[in-house]
Amino acid sequence: MPKTVHKKKSKPSLSIVGSGRLGTALAIAMSSAGYRIEAVVTRRPARARKTAALIGNATAAINADELHLLPASKIVLITTPDDVIAQTAQKLANSQPSLVNGRVVLHTSGALSSDVLAPLAAMGFQVGSLHPLVSVNDPRTGPENLRRAFYCVEGDLGAARVARAIVRDLNGRSFSIRSFDKPLYHAAAVMASGHVVVLFDLATEMLMRCGLDPGKARRVLRPLLESTVSNLLTSDPATALTGTFARGDFATVQRHLAALGSNGSLVALTVYRALGIHALELTKKNGADPQIRERISKALGALPPPRK
Ligand SMILES: NC(=O)c1ccc[n+]([C@@H]2O[C@H](COP(=O)([O-])OP(=O)(O)OC[C@H]3O[C@@H](n4cnc5c(N)ncnc54)[C@H](OP(=O)(O)O)[C@@H]3O)[C@@H](O)[C@H]2O)c1
Repeated sequence: MPKTVHKKKSKPSLSIVGSGRLGTALAIAMSSAGYRIEAVVTRRPARARKTAALIGNATAAINADELHLLPASKIVLITTPDDVIAQTAQKLANSQPSLVNGRVVLHTSGALSSDVLAPLAAMGFQVGSLHPLVSVNDPRTGPENLRRAFYCVEGDLGAARVARAIVRDLNGRSFSIRSFDKPLYHAAAVMASGHVVVLFDLATEMLMRCGLDPGKARRVLRPLLESTVSNLLTSDPATALTGTFARGDFATVQRHLAALGSNGSLVALTVYRALGIHALELTKKNGADPQIRERISKALGALPPPRK
């Protein structure tokens, strides 16, 4: 009897509009996962050519003004900045009027839902969003980060199915939220990523006011940050919290506030207070003394001492 031959299903073809930090990393990762990247699009041709050369495989480099040249790839990924996704969707709709059947358009914004692709949905494209919950700032390390990431997927059924298949092919894990929650979801991502970087920079600036140069300030803070992240990876936030607020050191909080008031930036003082209030919430879970919590809470709410 002849043997049944199971043919390996080939991956859908793909074009990427906007090959910056994320677009380039996705292009590399998806190309190694077997996707045929047919074209990359940017406003600056050199950028698209650079990405196309990185992927190889006869990928076309197309200028953003020439979207009519985009091949009818099965999947189009829009990885432009958030603010130009709507206009890119409109331009795509205008430039690909007859090539809709079964095609999927996904964008990678965390803050926007698939609603921003409405002009394409109206034409019959399946539309969705695929947001990798990782920070990608370099195309060389980006693909590795993408392989371990969680991806937030939303959109219409067909698009969400394709998006989840992409995530599986990248060895990532997908989850979904309600479309209207995307701005809040993305604000959470900013808190856990961009704002952590900002906090680190504020701490660096404070150490510079103590006389350290920026490089030294970053070096001495690094093990502190690493040990904190490591604690957070193995414990819940209330248990991972150490330091002044976890101990309930009221007088130390007063010293911090006085120092920030006289020799810190207003931003650092405001952030210290706002995060201090939430730190007190965490200590509540650990059974901290309610009276001390109350005193610290009052100190955080009090006006800063006048600047000299
Ligand atoms: N980077 C991350 O860590 C990350 C993570 C998750 C999600 N995202 C999302 O991914 C998207 C891209 O972010 P990114 O950080 O990769 O931004 P980026 O590095 O600034 O890249 C944006 C790319 O879009 C191109 N571009 C700009 N306007 C365009 C237009 N009108 N038509 C075609 N291409 C255009 C830019 O090249 P030219 O200037 O040459 O046109 C650039 O290649 C955003 O929606 C972001 O929210 C990013």
